[in-house]
Amino acid sequence: MDHFHYLDDRLHCEEVPLDHIAQAVGTPFYCYSERTLRHHLRVFQQAFAKTPHLICYSVKANSNLAVLDVLARDGAGFDIVSGGELQRVQRIGCPGNKIVFSGVGKTREEIRHALKHGILMFNVESRSELYRIDSLAGELGVKAPVALRINPDVDPKTHPHISTGLKRNKFGIAFPNALALYQDASRLPHIQIKGLDCHIGSQLTTLSPFVDALKRIVTLVSALKRDGIALSYLDLGGGLGIPYDQSLTPPLPDHYANALMDELSGFNLTLILEPGRVIVGNAGVLVTRVEYIKENEDKRFVITDAGMNDLLRPALYDAYHGIQPVVRRFGREEEVMDVVGPICESGDYFARDRLLPAFLEGELLAVRSAGAYGFVMSGNYNTRPKVAEVMVRGDRFAVVRRRETVEELLHHESLFRP
Ligand code: LLP
Repeated sequence: MDHFHYLDDRLHCEEVPLDHIAQAVGTPFYCYSERTLRHHLRVFQQAFAKTPHLICYSVKANSNLAVLDVLARDGAGFDIVSGGELQRVQRIGCPGNKIVFSGVGKTREEIRHALKHGILMFNVESRSELYRIDSLAGELGVKAPVALRINPDVDPKTHPHISTGLKRNKFGIAFPNALALYQDASRLPHIQIKGLDCHIGSQLTTLSPFVDALKRIVTLVSALKRDGIALSYLDLGGGLGIPYDQSLTPPLPDHYANALMDELSGFNLTLILEPGRVIVGNAGVLVTRVEYIKENEDKRFVITDAGMNDLLRPALYDAYHGIQPVVRRFGREEEVMDVVGPICESGDYFARDRLLPAFLEGELLAVRSAGAYGFVMSGNYNTRPKVAEVMVRGDRFAVVRRRETVEELLHHESLFRP
């Protein structure tokens, strides 16, 4: 459920018409609904209410400080994957005991930074990383709290680029090596074993891969217990999908939570979840203006002022995003078209051969479900400044990241003239 809806044929975010925002900030821009963010977090929290848990929102999905701040105020912790993300959550005042640090390539600098701040745990991805953390913790005279990220070798049945739980993926510690590495970890002087972590992929639309992974993980938790290694936390990562397309019916947070909790009854573990997309995906849209319409033989192209540098998902994953006119006109015909950006790449599109209302030059379109992995994956290709981000609360809105300027982009560069 989200708070984007038509009122008097104009698409609103909560109580604000999107064309008002476009007038004030120009296009393209991302627009986030605070009420939707809060609602999604609350639904997720309530789903796990019956068990001790911590929701660590996955910062990578949308790291705007205003988004993080809203979620933190409602009790979320954070899953981070870089020193940069750590600085973001520090900026909003998040306490260390609500931060988990994931990622396959943590640098020495990032590990030191996290050890100094003090975090709940590192989700360790390899033997080398474990030994690196142990030695850096020793230098700082502290004990590092860790979970080992285990790769359960389960197919999440999602796009190959966002599958992480198969043995051919770079993520996690191979299941057969897990027990031995825990035993090693238990002997390292500056390591404190806190838990076990597992994340098998993103945009999962069925429960069975989560349950299959958990069944394997649970056998490991029991084996560890027999070996005298008691865990306090079980981090099950993120990955719950959203209905980008109405034909998709991913499980609701309630069903997801119940399926997980069923497997865990009898274990005295605090659950950590790292949802990203399910919290922010449908809380955001990308608003863009139609610059041109052109017909080439049998193709109709609607060319917008936003491009793949602003929203990469269709180009990278052939992802589907709903597209709606900001001002709805009844009785308008529908046509098959490609909605494309201005970038010099044929992969620069938002929709291909899709039946949509016959849009007009100059009109505003909303690209839906763009709150997750939208702005954060944007870039400056074609020397295009990153777009503005706006947050709406009720009948008010604020720019929470202003549009970049070309001047700012050029500022980082210098000439090299003899
Ligand atoms: N935890 C870990 C360790 C992760 O790697 C991820 C996502 C999450 C949590 C959050 O997953 P979520 O709940 O959002 O599915 N750019 C891609 C998605 C990449 C996901 C990367 N890892 C996309 O646009 O679909």
